[in-house]
Amino acid sequence: MIKPHGSEQLNPLYVSDSAARAALAEEAEKLPSMLLNTAAAANAVMLGAGYFNPLDGFMNLANAMSTAEKMQTVDGLFWPVPILNRTDDIEAIQGAERIALRDPNVEGQPVLAVQTVVAIEEVSDEQLNAMTEQVFGTLDPEHPGVATFGARGQYIVSGPIQVLNYSYFRNEFPDTFRTAGEIRDEIAQRGWETVVAFQTRNPMHRAHEELCKMAKEAVDADGVLIHMLLGKLKPGDIPADVRDAAIRKMVELYFPENTVMVTGYGFDMLYAGPREAVLHAVFRQNCGCTHLIVGRDHAGVGDYYGAFDAQTIFHNEVPDGSLDIAIFEADHTAYSRKLNKVVMMRDAPDHDKDDFVLLSGTKVREMLAAGQDLPPEFARPEVAKILMEHYQNA
Ligand code: ADX
Repeated sequence: MIKPHGSEQLNPLYVSDSAARAALAEEAEKLPSMLLNTAAAANAVMLGAGYFNPLDGFMNLANAMSTAEKMQTVDGLFWPVPILNRTDDIEAIQGAERIALRDPNVEGQPVLAVQTVVAIEEVSDEQLNAMTEQVFGTLDPEHPGVATFGARGQYIVSGPIQVLNYSYFRNEFPDTFRTAGEIRDEIAQRGWETVVAFQTRNPMHRAHEELCKMAKEAVDADGVLIHMLLGKLKPGDIPADVRDAAIRKMVELYFPENTVMVTGYGFDMLYAGPREAVLHAVFRQNCGCTHLIVGRDHAGVGDYYGAFDAQTIFHNEVPDGSLDIAIFEADHTAYSRKLNKVVMMRDAPDHDKDDFVLLSGTKVREMLAAGQDLPPEFARPEVAKILMEHYQNA
């Protein structure tokens, strides 16, 4: 199986031995506490679940600046975005060697992880702006990722962590949330060798379904890992439970049995376009996937990124040999009225725009909210029904 990023073996930071975990939980109750922001909590879950292998915890300022600027840590590890624990409030933790990191997303704010504090560093506005611009390509506060990144605090708390649980993800999505190690295990059990990952934060329409099928065929894969984001999104995006149900229905009805794994991971969307695509590739490699589909406007939002910037970054900015996972680059995909099937536009050079069934996300939402059926060329009716119910009850 493909090796994890940066190490021979996957080293998840979740404490899997139950006695050690109980001892750590006991220790944590006596430690000074820090309430995490939701992005840092999601980082802790990703670190715990092995997705952010080989990082051993939260980055310091030098590593954050270095990853933002040149996609590598000070020690030369390839890594596309800073992984930070930031706060404005350091009173309770100043001078502490070990601290309990509390979960903002679970009632009672239980301890999510224990951190050994290596440094608490103040980050200047200039440094923060530099990182924001490098990671998101903009400083526009209207950008949802920039807005959350900017609001997370002036201090960076760095150091290794040990993770106690997977926040709300395990309980809320028991059938779908998986750690990177669990996905590796299942891939091995299934005997799959070539595995294509599909990143998504949306319900899957026919274009997405066909993208998965085209990619599987093109790379002669044994299976597809549909891997959905289960964490926080911007307002207006479709909640994870609805997406999960819609995706499961599509797989059940329209994919051959045993060719797809429907899974999810606990992370908040960054909307960082190209940089997030690279992060997506890193953690799909950690899951044991050999390929990642990157299509049109991958991890994008609004007009901040060019439609295929998330592909060109792999050619122009990711040094050769940084990653073992390969990118399956997909062109804009849509149903062709001429050919009566979903195609990539590059494969239909004689088509005009009007030859395709194209609907914007806004149009889809308007139609569903108004109780109008989506065209079957665009969405599978069984999938559309689940989305319609969501919009009618919203
Ligand atoms: S993302 O933010 O998670 O990337 P989304 O769930 O919409 O968003 O897309 C999942 C994947 O499908 C991404 O790789 C995206 O580029 C690709 N994609 C979505 N729609 C299309 C399309 N019509 N044509 C080509 N690729 C697409």
